[in-house]
Amino acid sequence: GMMREFSGINVMEEEIRQRFTLRKVVIVPGDSDESPWVKEELGRATVLRMKEYLAGNNIIAVTGGTTMSAIADQLTPGLTSDPLLFVPARGGIGEDVRNQANTICARMAERAGVSHRVLYMPDQVSEEVYASFVKEPSINEVLSLIQHANMVIHGIGDAFTMAKRRNTNEQDLEKLQEEKAVGEAFGYYFNEVGEVVHKVLTVGLQLDQLATIPNVIAVAGGASKGKAIAAYLQSAPPNTTLITDEGAMNTLLKGN
Ligand code: F6P
Repeated sequence: GMMREFSGINVMEEEIRQRFTLRKVVIVPGDSDESPWVKEELGRATVLRMKEYLAGNNIIAVTGGTTMSAIADQLTPGLTSDPLLFVPARGGIGEDVRNQANTICARMAERAGVSHRVLYMPDQVSEEVYASFVKEPSINEVLSLIQHANMVIHGIGDAFTMAKRRNTNEQDLEKLQEEKAVGEAFGYYFNEVGEVVHKVLTVGLQLDQLATIPNVIAVAGGASKGKAIAAYLQSAPPNTTLITDEGAMNTLLKGN
């Protein structure tokens, strides 16, 4: 591994924590855009925080993406001696199966040797269809578990990278362009000053509920995500722990 320059990184962590009023910031050395092992380090650092924060009857809500998948890779049984259940944070937001919250949630639970629930909600349907799905007992049960989550772990992405990865329609792409979307998390798109400019319609955890969840862990790295992370952090609640890398933070600090 690489030598951690303790003083430099610690100073940067504290600077970012104060600037965005966060609970904690952990920066791992390197740039995950360039070296795959840095993403592994993000995963390891996240698992350490999870162990520290887990307490009582745990329900962990998770989003999807390759960073979340790297966290799953680092999980092992014995995370906590308390009850633990994984749930997806929200219904489908247009991702491929391998990047979906359901998939990540199932893999995390399998690796940790605990149970999970999935949320079978179709992507991009009308409000009427949503309304009737939500009444389904099997879906309703999972939705109420999500409302009781005491930990949320989520990724952050570049707005246009995410919009393309989700095959977003022309109309929404134009809207994102006009509104100058920069970052994305949970299916919400943010502009440079952290305002929500677009949101994917789905059930589950809504952005304004984040502040009421005791432990929120945002995990994102890579120089290409610096601006996206800055955009999201403008509105992130103060109970947020950010796990990131030097690549992302160097871009973020240069951008201001
Ligand atoms: O779609 C789920 C999601 O967590 C997004 O909210 C986020 O922008 C993205 O995945 C991050 O994906 P990755 O870790 O692959 O960059």
